[in-house]
Amino acid sequence: MEKLTGIKKKVAIFISGRGSNLKSLVKYSKKKNSKINIILVISNNSKAKGLKYAKKNKIKYYAVYYKNLYNFEKKILKLLKKFKIDFICLAGFMKILSKNFIKKFKKPILNIHPSLLPKFKGLETHKRVLKNNEKYSGATVHLVTSKLDSGKIILQKKIKIFKFDNEKTLEKKILKIEHEIYPKAIIKFLSNL
Ligand code: GRF
Repeated sequence: MEKLTGIKKKVAIFISGRGSNLKSLVKYSKKKNSKINIILVISNNSKAKGLKYAKKNKIKYYAVYYKNLYNFEKKILKLLKKFKIDFICLAGFMKILSKNFIKKFKKPILNIHPSLLPKFKGLETHKRVLKNNEKYSGATVHLVTSKLDSGKIILQKKIKIFKFDNEKTLEKKILKIEHEIYPKAIIKFLSNL
């Protein structure tokens, strides 16, 4: 028997922009056998496109004003507690959460990164991958720690880089696999709890 039958975890998705990974997670959450309910979408950017998508899908969303990290995280922690969130998925969230936040939240935080971690942590990933003449790149879903893009890897998918690839083509191909692996990583993560 499956460990989590009938129990859907309450999830908050953190975004900063476009929200295509949010979209893929919402799609997954609507499947009959999905293991999650997306309860909240939080953004540090009130203009994030993903917020419109949350609204359209009747998911509660909050653009949390960022004055300083401490106050920002305090407001978010309050929301997470209020909605009894079981875990967070970062999806293109451009702020680095503090050690204090991770400690206080106490529950898992997942992130997706467009490289084959531990290689190419941080921003401008595709540009650096190409500059380094890598043969492969990909996407990684991992647990969040206070060190950037460094927690335990849950799932990774690799793609080949061709001579004709540029930043745009690579981004497009990798985004496609991001949308595929984030839901899969959640299923894997929950089944190992
Ligand atoms: C994705 O490439 C994700 O891996 C990275 O930021 C991008 C966000 O895209 N962390 P989107 O907002 O989900 O479309």
